[in-house]
Amino acid sequence: MVICRTKDYNDLSRKAANIIRAQVILKPDCVLGLATGSSPVGIYQNLVKWHQKGDLDFSKVSSINLDEYRGLRPDNDQSYRYFMDTNLFNHINIDKAHTFVPNGLEEDPKKACSNYDQIIESMGGVDLQLLGLGHNGHIGFNEPSNVFPSGTHCVDLAPSTIEANKRFFASEADVPRQAYTMGIRSILLAKKIIMVVSGEGKAEILKKVVCGPITPEVPASVLQLHRDVVIVADEAALSKF
Ligand code: GLP
Repeated sequence: MVICRTKDYNDLSRKAANIIRAQVILKPDCVLGLATGSSPVGIYQNLVKWHQKGDLDFSKVSSINLDEYRGLRPDNDQSYRYFMDTNLFNHINIDKAHTFVPNGLEEDPKKACSNYDQIIESMGGVDLQLLGLGHNGHIGFNEPSNVFPSGTHCVDLAPSTIEANKRFFASEADVPRQAYTMGIRSILLAKKIIMVVSGEGKAEILKKVVCGPITPEVPASVLQLHRDVVIVADEAALSKF
């Protein structure tokens, strides 16, 4: 595990975006595993800026996202499809037909998950997986539990996740209670993983992720087993080290 310490969120966003930029330049037809949440927003702003300057070409890139709320339409402004479109895809030259997010409208969880696993499989592997970190140690929507789930599955969101994510919704009651998420095995199969962590509120959990035991109670701790992980974190997030 490599830890890249940054001064603040802007510095973190630029450094993490540079890793993605290098990936796209070195392998123009790469598969990017993408994430939502507030942490990657600055990264996407940098990628858009560099694309608009003519420095970055996404025409051959494919992407696969980690998760989606169950029951939200793609045009709902809280869906992760909408997030990806408005924060990144609408502003770069990626072919949207090559961007994938779980289908939140598929009511049958088995079907939604097996369809997504087939898509992941057909893409032939993720070159670079971007991750944020939940306050409870979740990655994607893999919540703390007593097992590491393998493939895409439907999860009941933890009360702490509903609490953390209610800031994006009109009220807590509007936060969906379930989501479809890529499993831990699929995440670990990525060739390279970059996790971005910002702010003092994540300092305690980040210490557990990096230095604590590998346990499904702290899902991101499984990253200790991957051979190529870079954690890009600001000083506030690293304040407990
Ligand atoms: C959400 C997403 C995760 C994200 C996490 C942290 O629940 N499902 O993929 O990493 O929250 O979000 P934030 O970066 O806003 O703290």
